[in-house]
Amino acid sequence: MSETREHWSNSLGFVLATAGSAIGLGNIWKFPYIAGQNGGGAFVLIYLICIAIIGLPIMLCEITLGRRTQKSAVGAFRMLSPKRSHLANFIGFSMIFTAVALLVFKQYGWAVVMLMLGGMIIRFGWTSVGIIGVFTGIIILSYYSVVGGWTIGYIIKAFSGKLNYVTEQAAATQFNAFKFGLTRVIVLQIGFILLCALIIVRGVRNGIEKWSKILMPLLFVLLIILILRGLTLPGATKGVNFLLSPDLSSLTAESVLVALGHAFFTLSIGLGVIITYGSYISREQNIFKSALSIVVLDTLMAIMAGLAIFPAVFAMGFKESAGPGLVFNVLPAVFNSIPGNMGWLWAGLFFILLAIAALTSGISMLEVAVAFFVDELKWKRNKAVVLTTAITILLGVFSAISLSNWDKIEWMHQALVSAFNIKSASFFDVMDTLSSNWLLPLGGLSIALFVGWIWGIRKAIEEIRHGSHNFADVHLISLLAGLKDDPSHNNANYHVLTLASIWGIFIRFITPVAVMSAFLHEIGWMSFK
Ligand code: PFF
Repeated sequence: MSETREHWSNSLGFVLATAGSAIGLGNIWKFPYIAGQNGGGAFVLIYLICIAIIGLPIMLCEITLGRRTQKSAVGAFRMLSPKRSHLANFIGFSMIFTAVALLVFKQYGWAVVMLMLGGMIIRFGWTSVGIIGVFTGIIILSYYSVVGGWTIGYIIKAFSGKLNYVTEQAAATQFNAFKFGLTRVIVLQIGFILLCALIIVRGVRNGIEKWSKILMPLLFVLLIILILRGLTLPGATKGVNFLLSPDLSSLTAESVLVALGHAFFTLSIGLGVIITYGSYISREQNIFKSALSIVVLDTLMAIMAGLAIFPAVFAMGFKESAGPGLVFNVLPAVFNSIPGNMGWLWAGLFFILLAIAALTSGISMLEVAVAFFVDELKWKRNKAVVLTTAITILLGVFSAISLSNWDKIEWMHQALVSAFNIKSASFFDVMDTLSSNWLLPLGGLSIALFVGWIWGIRKAIEEIRHGSHNFADVHLISLLAGLKDDPSHNNANYHVLTLASIWGIFIRFITPVAVMSAFLHEIGWMSFK
């Protein structure tokens, strides 16, 4: 264990910083708009199930791996993985096989991605999960920063009194005009990435922890105000019903995968961010409790954002399926309907908090990559930050362009449509679909398989026990969970169902099967109907 490694000041510091990574644009911008596009209630239900049976167990795996190894993702896998692993080879070869299948279905772009991933897994074994995570972080930040930039733009708009509309049309006109101002969008995007970089240079505790402690609670309060306003608008119940009453017949294979991908995206799991953050915790902390608190806080924020938005969407005549502009259009209108004519101030405050929530998430994506260079390649922190920032900006600019003047580079548009077969294939969408719907779930699946079958639940539980000792273990269930020769098994006083054993079963069986079924369902080899 490195003597100089920085640590969070206490478990609250860790929970808030990690919640800071988890809570961001995913909760407030993306969740409402994808729920709106995928039919509302049924989508929310699947999302909640994914959070419970996939998100929470994997979150605990990542924290445990980080704290055990005191290393970031790549190092953690390198330290714990065996020299040769049949399972890794099996996964690698299955991916190559999938790539061939994708070729048959003429999904050339995805086939190439699969082929590269499969090759990497066969070559580097489990360590490649960490390496792929480093790339995934950069890919996500590259398009996340476009929306981060929009939030900064909307702060300026709010304070200069431009967000004074209440109708959908006025809102959409303004949003589209804003989105198409390419130079401005790129400047704001780069500004957002540079802000992340500035915070990251200062290191973990100073940079990340301080911000999260003050600002997360403020965002929470502002959401409550928005919900109260939204719910008291005439016709608001339609919005509540849309969000909370599921109509399962509206679900498609695609929306199941979107819900699954979003569970990963919103919790920042599947790419090693949480391994990295977990590596800065000390061994006295109760990581079971921390994982649960982070997941509950994150889910609460998403549902609250939904409750703030959908009642207003229906009451004020907005379109629920408006896509990425939804939050930017609807919320200023809600603020303008608060008596007192202070809409600009409310909106300004809201977008400031949203920008900060986005920053605390953005820095965590950079941190995975930076920690890799610092821990593994022994680079200076500054140098690592400069390199990762530069790559992110270069890649990110394409996403910004793709949302505005896309038709000016028609050849690229066409190439993406035919390579990735996505309906509205902007570079932005491709990056989003690739990372959220595929790379994160694949990363999460690999993390669960690694902990469940390679490193072993038994060792993981030993680590979890430090700081959280109240688990006892059992016969049958502990056997299934891989805990049969665990020392506390010999205690006379054990109980049948423990958190430890339930978690073991989830990680070994339920979580991997759930992720794989969603993949197969989407690829079309399996139908639930
Ligand atoms: N969880 C963040 C959000 O919901 O906005 C997004 C995110 C952060 C995804 C960090 C991935 C990541 F590594």
